[in-house]
Amino acid sequence: MTQFVFPRDFLWGASTSSYQIEGALQADGRGDCVWDTFAAAGRIADGSTAKTACDHFHRWPEDIALLKAAGFNAYRFSIAWPRVLPTGTGAVNAKGLDFYDRLVDGLLTAGIRPMACLYHWDLPQPLEDRGGWQGREIIQPFADYAAVVAARLADRVKDWMMLNEPNVVAIFGYGVGDHAPGLKLGEVGILKALHHQNLAQGAAFRAIAAAHSGLRLGTVINLEPCLAESDDPLDVAAAARWDAVWNRVALDGVLRGMIPPLLAEKMADFVRPGDEELIGYPIDLLGINYYSKMTMKHETGHPFDVWWGDAHCQRWTGMGWPVQPDGLYDLLMELKRDYGNLPVYIAENGAAYDDEVAADGQIHDAERVAFFKDHLAAVGRALADGCNVKGYLCWSLLDNFEWAFGLAKRFGIVRVDYETLQRTPKDSYRFLSTVAKQGRL
Ligand code: BGC
Repeated sequence: MTQFVFPRDFLWGASTSSYQIEGALQADGRGDCVWDTFAAAGRIADGSTAKTACDHFHRWPEDIALLKAAGFNAYRFSIAWPRVLPTGTGAVNAKGLDFYDRLVDGLLTAGIRPMACLYHWDLPQPLEDRGGWQGREIIQPFADYAAVVAARLADRVKDWMMLNEPNVVAIFGYGVGDHAPGLKLGEVGILKALHHQNLAQGAAFRAIAAAHSGLRLGTVINLEPCLAESDDPLDVAAAARWDAVWNRVALDGVLRGMIPPLLAEKMADFVRPGDEELIGYPIDLLGINYYSKMTMKHETGHPFDVWWGDAHCQRWTGMGWPVQPDGLYDLLMELKRDYGNLPVYIAENGAAYDDEVAADGQIHDAERVAFFKDHLAAVGRALADGCNVKGYLCWSLLDNFEWAFGLAKRFGIVRVDYETLQRTPKDSYRFLSTVAKQGRL
């Protein structure tokens, strides 16, 4: 088998997000977010909530120990806006920031580089009540929040991600309603949510940069190559539209300071002069979340007349997502070709499977191991072909609250028993640990 040797300074680690692991939703003055409201409305498939989740809020020392024992040198986590500013704006809740202070100190003591993401979907409910990502009123609050968090942590946290997956928030939260806040606003709702996230992000970059130097500022986008299901020109056009919506609004927004031409007309009503300058920013690094390619077909009745087509794939995850590691290689090569060879790191990549606890008490998650092996090989190939990949952070350290699926879907390399909260490293944890420690595959 091909051996890939990764650069010596390569980052190896795992990602998580605040809402999915922390629990302690009432602790220390935290306010409500849109996912609390969504869960209370009965919108989570298995009826669970994130009330306890992994109880990371209390068990973070154990979780840092897991990262350290794996030999990881990086960890991406997110900060809960409603812990810091319980109503989204106004008085800072110092106790909410104290939690991240402890976490960051713990990571640094363990020799792990903290990579902080400011927004992984837990929007304070009062801001949603004022229009959320549908309006411009959110731009300044987000920039203010970013400045508050950086003021507290930027002496120790050097890597900052503004957003996580603005495309997923826009499409599932505001377009089709499967995610909080559960709105079905269709095309315009999707594009507005994307544009206002781009604007808020642009303002946040500038707010942080104005007060601090020597930081690496970036963002995280879910990027997936969009293919047409067939060579029918209708399907080909549908895939191009979906590529514009899914990948390009976020990508071209930050990297080129532009609205994709294919969508300019649909966005003309709410894009104002000067917006394009504000959404562009010379970022220091880009986080990529990759799960699969997208195979699209033309079908009316959906936003942009696009629907999921047959992926012509033999391997599927427990989410029903196709396993297509070559898409990660293609994506990295395309980024290098189209956007310059800027530093990127894989900020999420992973799979849910129906894990079982074996008679020996262990989780022999061979499919997840194979998933990681194949995707790491894709990264290795891209590195060999000149891509500027700086790190690989799996999704996720722990089984966690998988949004609208609740606790039913397990993405962790460490199993969490939701009764006892006991953590059990899976075979995939040991696999990634070996690769990280040896620096080769
Ligand atoms: C998100 C994670 C999520 C994962 C699996 C990504 O879209 O950033 O929060 O758990 O995918 O669905």
